[in-house]
Amino acid sequence: MDLNTKVELNNGVKMPIFGLGVWNTDNATAAKSVYAAIKHGYKMIDTAKQYGNEAGVGRGIKQALDDGLIKREDLFVTSKVCNSDQGYDLALAKFRGTLKRLQLDYLDLYLIHWPVDGRYLETWRALVELQKQGLVRAIGVSNFDVQRLSVILQNSDVVPAVNQIEFNPQMQEKDMLAYAAKHNIHIEGWSPLGHGKAMSDPTIALVAAKHNVTPAQAILRFDVQSGVITIPKTVREQRMVENADIWNFELDATDMAAIKSIDKEERSLWYESFGWYGTDTDYGMHTQKWPDSAADYDD
Ligand SMILES: NC(=O)c1ccc[n+]([C@@H]2O[C@H](COP(=O)([O-])OP(=O)(O)OC[C@H]3O[C@@H](n4cnc5c(N)ncnc54)[C@H](OP(=O)(O)O)[C@@H]3O)[C@@H](O)[C@H]2O)c1
Repeated sequence: MDLNTKVELNNGVKMPIFGLGVWNTDNATAAKSVYAAIKHGYKMIDTAKQYGNEAGVGRGIKQALDDGLIKREDLFVTSKVCNSDQGYDLALAKFRGTLKRLQLDYLDLYLIHWPVDGRYLETWRALVELQKQGLVRAIGVSNFDVQRLSVILQNSDVVPAVNQIEFNPQMQEKDMLAYAAKHNIHIEGWSPLGHGKAMSDPTIALVAAKHNVTPAQAILRFDVQSGVITIPKTVREQRMVENADIWNFELDATDMAAIKSIDKEERSLWYESFGWYGTDTDYGMHTQKWPDSAADYDD
């Protein structure tokens, strides 16, 4: 495995197993991070309209393409429908803004960011249409539990290629992994480092010391060896290099079992308490605002 390693999604599209996340990053920093990551060999970028930085990500990608660091067909770009854009017509219309901000003419993967109850089935129909039109190569969901994912499977001929959910040593989502494997859905793990917190676990320290790697490297290796598509976020170039340098060692069965045993089934962040699923709670309905993004979200 290395930065070029890909998994084959259920529609035949190949997706890198490792990439860069850019949540909580303003546009200017996102542009720099994306450019630096591509320079260091990253092939996949994960953003979302909700992060308020698609425009910055787009600028980073454009600069990397213009400078000849990578070809568009070798780059894999993911974005997500934000909650306020859910529903068939709105999701179709607002997708144009995402493409425009990213300065792309197609996306590699487009996800429903959160399963807004009462709307996600219609949103899924819109994603199926976008895929049919050739505007997105693969479609999937994010933050879906087994119950909501099974509603999609029962109501659509198109099975989501990916479910992007929290996955790290403290939140290993065993039930979802088993369900996804059964239905040929790939799991993409967000907050692979537990938003920074998983790195201080003593078991991680032991495994890291055994292989002479950093705690972050031990965790990320565990994630990819678990078959999970992995997208650590960092804005620091040195950490980008560190995080992507996980291909020259392998965790053995004892290491994997040790890390599996520290699963606390504990989310690193908020979840239901923030009411992301509801149409009447508006926390999840807005994009993050950055000082340099005001003009970017008037679509
Ligand atoms: N679908 C969803 O709902 C959802 C939710 C959350 C996240 N995501 C996606 O998943 C990506 C990753 O998740 P995340 O951003 O929550 O957390 P994460 O990748 O688990 O952790 C990021 C944190 O760890 C730090 N860090 C990164 N590499 C490090 C290293 N080698 N050593 C020490 N610290 C390090 C980063 O700080 P610095 O930047 O300062 O280095 C940052 O504070 C997001 O950016 C986003 O693309 C999706």
